[in-house]
Amino acid sequence: MSLPARIKETILSDHDYGSTIMPGTIGVLTGGGDCPGLNAAIRAVVLAGTAGGYTLQGVRNGWQGLITNDLVPLTPDQVSAIISHGGTTLGTSRINPLGDPENQQKIRKTILDTGMEALIVVGGNGTLSAAHELAEQGIPIVGIPKTIDNDVAGTDRSFGFDTAVSIVTQAIDRLRTTAESHHRIMVVETMGRDAGWIALFAGLAGGADRILIPEVRFSVDEVCTELKEQYQAGRKSSVIVVAEGVHHTDICGEDVRACDRDECGHEKFVGAANRLGREIETRLGIDTRVTVLGYIQRGGSPTAYDRILATRFGFAAVEQVKVGHVGCMVALQGSEIGTVPLKDIAHKVKPADTALYRLARTMELRRKGKTTSKSLSSRNLGKIL
Ligand code: F6P
Repeated sequence: MSLPARIKETILSDHDYGSTIMPGTIGVLTGGGDCPGLNAAIRAVVLAGTAGGYTLQGVRNGWQGLITNDLVPLTPDQVSAIISHGGTTLGTSRINPLGDPENQQKIRKTILDTGMEALIVVGGNGTLSAAHELAEQGIPIVGIPKTIDNDVAGTDRSFGFDTAVSIVTQAIDRLRTTAESHHRIMVVETMGRDAGWIALFAGLAGGADRILIPEVRFSVDEVCTELKEQYQAGRKSSVIVVAEGVHHTDICGEDVRACDRDECGHEKFVGAANRLGREIETRLGIDTRVTVLGYIQRGGSPTAYDRILATRFGFAAVEQVKVGHVGCMVALQGSEIGTVPLKDIAHKVKPADTALYRLARTMELRRKGKTTSKSLSSRNLGKIL
């Protein structure tokens, strides 16, 4: 049976992911927010795929390109130099392919018409959850986790995260010099949605005076008390790193989130740092400035770590296609690349590591001259979700 026919059959009947897929056409798409390393992953898929005898089709603008049959043939020549480029040469979008049954039909048609035997989907939580639903309908998909947020379940890292952490760490270093010169409090807001990974890693690396993440509840009273004690003790500057997804109730007693959502149903975040900065300045009367790093964290050239991880993922994804192992996502497990079923990671968010948060909190309190035992008490750690 030809492979498109096989896809047709699996769409109509039971899933059969066991048999070996012979070289044919592999499609590759990038969906959701862009991040550094996407081009390195595309490059690896194309180089590994063509070496394995496959023809590669790039899908433009994420799921949108499958809906409108907007594809571009990819050859090693086209991708050889893109490893260092940020963004995605294929384009991306935040389309939810499951929103409209007609779109799902169009996606299946494009795959069948193109003779696409497997689709490699490079995405974050939203894209990979949609990939799972489509894989359940019989479309042979292998996922690759990407996102600066590092919140994809089932993998220790997603590429893009390391670059974002480096950018935020450098920003903290720069903001600290102004904080010190002007004796100010600097509040820095990071991206990350409902997970505090970027704030936690960059805050720890940048020696932040306080890191606030969604996974650990806090009270603005206690943040201000600590700042006041610090200023009274003579250390008259501070850098506070706050993740965009922190609970606004912790800042101002009012839940101001969820007022607006994007096409995939993701909440749009509404200025946690600005609110926090205002509260702190009003309560303490200390000059406070806010920096929202925003899309700076997602742009530009990937770090060596992200290029290598994306390359390993891209290569491993093609290996899965070769052996007919689809309906899975490649993942970093310790220092090895493994796979996890898409069903195990779909619709899940991997929260930031609370053990690392404890270390960060201990460092913050130590720096302020507080004892380790006190720093490890549950009162000072806040409520870990
Ligand atoms: O998921 C990556 C991310 O950059 C989040 O950190 C952020 O909340 C969101 O995307 C922003 O989305 P958009 O690009 O749709 O504004």
